[in-house]
Amino acid sequence: MNAIKPKIPTKPLGVKPIPKWSPKLSVGNAKLDEQHITLLELGQDLLRVLDTKTATVVQIHGALEDIVKLSRLHDALEESVLEANGCPTLAEHKVVHQSAQTQLATLLSDVARGIVDRPVLSGLIADWMGHHISENDLPVKDYMKHTPKARTAG
Ligand SMILES: [Fe+2]
Ligand SMILES: [Fe+2]
Repeated sequence: MNAIKPKIPTKPLGVKPIPKWSPKLSVGNAKLDEQHITLLELGQDLLRVLDTKTATVVQIHGALEDIVKLSRLHDALEESVLEANGCPTLAEHKVVHQSAQTQLATLLSDVARGIVDRPVLSGLIADWMGHHISENDLPVKDYMKHTPKARTAG
């Protein structure tokens, strides 16, 4: 027989990797870039936990909660910067943030109740992180350049 061996995928089908940060993803604001980098790292951490068969629900919840907490702070800072710079699409940007926050909150409360669908959870997180910077933030980076002084303290 001369059958071609099927390629074995190294990752489960349908799960995209978390994008790696590179200077191409910079929005030109050091604090927002730093938060984006940390969010991507936390995403990698969550995927690693989800890939670990022995990981407990408590560990998964903790990893997801870290993402949720930072993303709330990040969205608030980003919105204040966009507002201070007069971003004309601020309202649309807020809607995108809000719908992502609603989805994250639902995922977190599911995990808190022990509902963990690993492929779905990792797919949603990777997908959100994939869109967040390149599709939502980079198009408005001209309005992210300065951090309003009142919001940078602490
Ligand atoms: Fe954003
Ligand atoms: Fe962002």
